[in-house]
Amino acid sequence: MTRNLSTPRPGAPSATAATAADLGTRRFLFVTGKGGVGKTTFCAALALALAAQGKRVLVAMPQAKERLSAMLGTPPLTSEIAQLGKNIWAVNLSPERALYEYGEMILKVKAVAKAVFDNKYTRTFFRATPGLYEWAMLGKAWFHTTETLEDGSNRFDVVLFDAPATGHGVDMLRVPKVILDAVPPGILRRDAELAWAMFRDPIQSGVVVVTLPEEMPTTETVELVNNIRTELGLPVLKLIVNGVLTPLFSEGERDELVRDGALLAIDAPQTTAGTRDSAIVAGARRAVRERVQAESLARLDREVDLVALRLPFLFDEAGTPEGTRLLAMRL
Ligand SMILES: Nc1ncnc2c1ncn2[C@@H]1O[C@H](COP(=O)(O)OP(=O)(O)OP(=O)(O)O)[C@@H](O)[C@H]1O
Ligand SMILES: [Mg+2]
Repeated sequence: MTRNLSTPRPGAPSATAATAADLGTRRFLFVTGKGGVGKTTFCAALALALAAQGKRVLVAMPQAKERLSAMLGTPPLTSEIAQLGKNIWAVNLSPERALYEYGEMILKVKAVAKAVFDNKYTRTFFRATPGLYEWAMLGKAWFHTTETLEDGSNRFDVVLFDAPATGHGVDMLRVPKVILDAVPPGILRRDAELAWAMFRDPIQSGVVVVTLPEEMPTTETVELVNNIRTELGLPVLKLIVNGVLTPLFSEGERDELVRDGALLAIDAPQTTAGTRDSAIVAGARRAVRERVQAESLARLDREVDLVALRLPFLFDEAGTPEGTRLLAMRL
């Protein structure tokens, strides 16, 4: 398993491709975007690409029904950091556990931490304190950028934070700032300050926004990039447009195919099944999708001032280790 994950295939492009090399100079990358656009898929592919370049990568995700292990072909993740392959580690952060560990670090003595954290009233208090669970997870992920090995080198060169879908994801990024503004000086505040300083520094860290070439995700992405930059003042390093189809039709052909509304009727595939027209119905649907994609890509180019990396739509390989390797080669 270890060998398969990181061994490039014969004929694969060299692992020094631009996106991974560029992003891989950072210590902490926050990957966000609307639900289901391919954040975890991208994290898996980037982890593979970075690991192949010799970077030690930790993928951390908060309490997600995780799909990363399926994408990498490894056993399911737990809340314990596990090595998945050469240079790749991953952890599925549990908020309770992260808060507990954080408490242990702050309180230094395990017995005290246990007394505090196992207490029903403190647990209720924690739950009612906005942002504390989020910070425990984000802060724990950040903390792993500060760890060193015995020889003084980084335990992890890059931490990839596979954030929850937008809304929650950006709320999570807001948390260190909230702590800075609201919490009195102390260890919690000191760590939040250090983390926030790292997150704001485009040399050390940044946000990667993933999207799909579709109408709603495009609109939300334009807003998201603006919000992250203006409201939070954090650097957005890269836009990933995932699931891009190679067009089959020219613009003229698309116009031709979508002209006949009957081909796009909801029951058209059923009514034409088994006839020659079913191919034309399929073509018309594909033409619509290609048109939306072309419009979305043009809009992202116009309205988001970032060089976008386009990743191909995968058919049979989506969500599999083979698909992850195919995407990693594009990075
Ligand atoms: N390039 C692609 N081609 C085809 N299918 C893809 C591609 N990228 C992702 N998918 C599929 O889309 C689905 C969502 O992908 P993924 O889990 O990576 O998204 P996500 O943004 O992490 O979702 P969530 O918000 O639920 O965490 C998965 O079934 C995945 O296999
Ligand atoms: Mg995900």
